[in-house]
Amino acid sequence: LSAASGGAPSCVAPIGVFDSGVGGLTVLRALTAKLPRERFVYLGDTARLPYGTKSPETVARYSLQAAEALTEYGVKCLVIACNTASSVGLPTIRAHIENMPVIGVIEPGAQVACTASRSGHIAVIATEGTVRGGAYQRAILAIRPDASVDAQPAPLFVALAEEGLHEGPIANDIATHYLRPMFSPSHPGASVPDTLVLGCTHFPVLAEAIRRAVGPQVRIVDSAATTAASVEAQLREAGLATTATDPGTVRLLATDGRERFAKVGTRFLDQLITPEQVELIDL
Ligand code: DGL
Repeated sequence: LSAASGGAPSCVAPIGVFDSGVGGLTVLRALTAKLPRERFVYLGDTARLPYGTKSPETVARYSLQAAEALTEYGVKCLVIACNTASSVGLPTIRAHIENMPVIGVIEPGAQVACTASRSGHIAVIATEGTVRGGAYQRAILAIRPDASVDAQPAPLFVALAEEGLHEGPIANDIATHYLRPMFSPSHPGASVPDTLVLGCTHFPVLAEAIRRAVGPQVRIVDSAATTAASVEAQLREAGLATTATDPGTVRLLATDGRERFAKVGTRFLDQLITPEQVELIDL
């Protein structure tokens, strides 16, 4: 598959952004801030969310279907704005979608963590699928072979963020449950991580509860801004940066639930989304 049925993609074509649901809107927010003149088509596979509890084969298949659907919109580049899909689906997508950059969120996230950490002891929280697949652990060790990585699935964070319970006592209790053991020394003198990677698109909205649980010293990093910087660099390198002078646009696609997408998505994008703005598609 290619951008325009075999033709080279044009620099004024949109950028395709894909997530299992609305979480990737945190990445879209960073992309629109960094690249304000670009056009974006965002696809949330809300009918099949969550990906984080599904098998790698299923996630890879769903991710490829979503990527193929975005190519129908003539995109010039694909951003896999979902950690779970990036961790298991990227090679499959890259093997099938030629002729355009395909950028995931794991490598940019690993990069920022390796730069942020002084000690090299890095904690990662993500979905079960992302932790089980080990993609963050591999990406961090590839950049910093001296690193030691503790990874912890935090699946309830996805539900909390979706339900709008991202702050308050429930969020604080669950953050403590997942994070205190990781950040308490196992024996006197044992090291604890100095950096925490939010390895899931839903987690940045829980930043306050996460900060309370880990304390003020730990550096908390997410991959949204670094991913946006990587997209900018790769577009420029491929001669695909837009030449448009008008402000960019965002088109929102979902596979189910326009009302829910608008309601929950508003929080993730930090900008009002109305149900009328969301187009439903089938994969
Ligand atoms: N978007 C997913 C991720 O970043 C979280 C939600 C899900 O499990 O589908 O891993």
